[in-house]
Amino acid sequence: MPTTTPMAHRGDATAGPPSYNARMSTPETFEIPLETAELYETKFVPALFADWAPHVVEMGDVTAGQSVLDVACGTGIVARTAAARVGPQGRVVGVDLNPAMLTVADRVCRDVELRRADVADLPFDADTFDAALCQMALMFFPDRQRAIGEMGRVVKPDGTVVVMVPSRLDAQPAYRLLVELAAHHAGPEAVAMLSAYWVCGDLDELCQTVRSAGLEVLSTRTRMGTARFDSIDEFVAVEVESTPVRERLTDGEYDTLRREAHDVLAGFTAPDGTAQIPIEGHLLAARPR
Ligand SMILES: C[S@@+](CC[C@H](N)C(=O)[O-])C[C@H]1O[C@@H](n2cnc3c(N)ncnc32)[C@H](O)[C@@H]1O
Repeated sequence: MPTTTPMAHRGDATAGPPSYNARMSTPETFEIPLETAELYETKFVPALFADWAPHVVEMGDVTAGQSVLDVACGTGIVARTAAARVGPQGRVVGVDLNPAMLTVADRVCRDVELRRADVADLPFDADTFDAALCQMALMFFPDRQRAIGEMGRVVKPDGTVVVMVPSRLDAQPAYRLLVELAAHHAGPEAVAMLSAYWVCGDLDELCQTVRSAGLEVLSTRTRMGTARFDSIDEFVAVEVESTPVRERLTDGEYDTLRREAHDVLAGFTAPDGTAQIPIEGHLLAARPR
């Protein structure tokens, strides 16, 4: 996932692609501008997030007529995929902390109710939904166990909670190489700066967090997806330029990094010059115990 994108705000909460150095602290600090949410929808949803949504919905066994919650919905790619599945008799609700994301979601989603809420305190009664789905967001929650517990609380006793997270950095064939290159030029601190997306990627730890939250793990699946960028240059820019890594590099060092990235990542370039970057991720389905 993009390490430095226009979505990342140098250590602030983040909405964006993988290498965001984003950390959410409190709901009050978690705001991105509308233009960032628009860019998320037009650029990053088709580039990488849309690829995962059908798999998340599938993992939740979502069927016609069901009631589904998309937690940390962003601009609603999972919510609208679920809405197509549940049909007119069903109900889909998306919640997110970020008002700009919800503004864009409101424009692009049909048949989805949207609410601003923190996953740590979901504004729904217990046993409300058949499924609660969360794609590419767990790593940004300050208290992951509580978040999963909340998802477990709002689903029905036979309901399903699905969490999708990217795998660890060492399982990422291309990102791993880019991070190594960045660390070579910007110092070892660059690894942490580019690793926000990978921090929940240990499947055993994820299962443990889910169990500690009072849920039973039903199944897991590890899948290789693809993120598509116009070029290796764009991939590098997205990953590096909105993180503090860029500030650690002179213009000359950054040029060198970009040149070297072309060589190191040549195997991820399609004949038309686009970059096709593999992203491994875990899908986990659970239910309340
Ligand atoms: C990388 S985006 C993923 C969005 C969406 N699930 C998707 O797949 O496109 C992460 C989302 O998590 C949301 N988020 C982060 N912390 C949250 C919290 N505590 N409660 C609700 N949403 C949160 C952000 O606003 C952002 O929209």
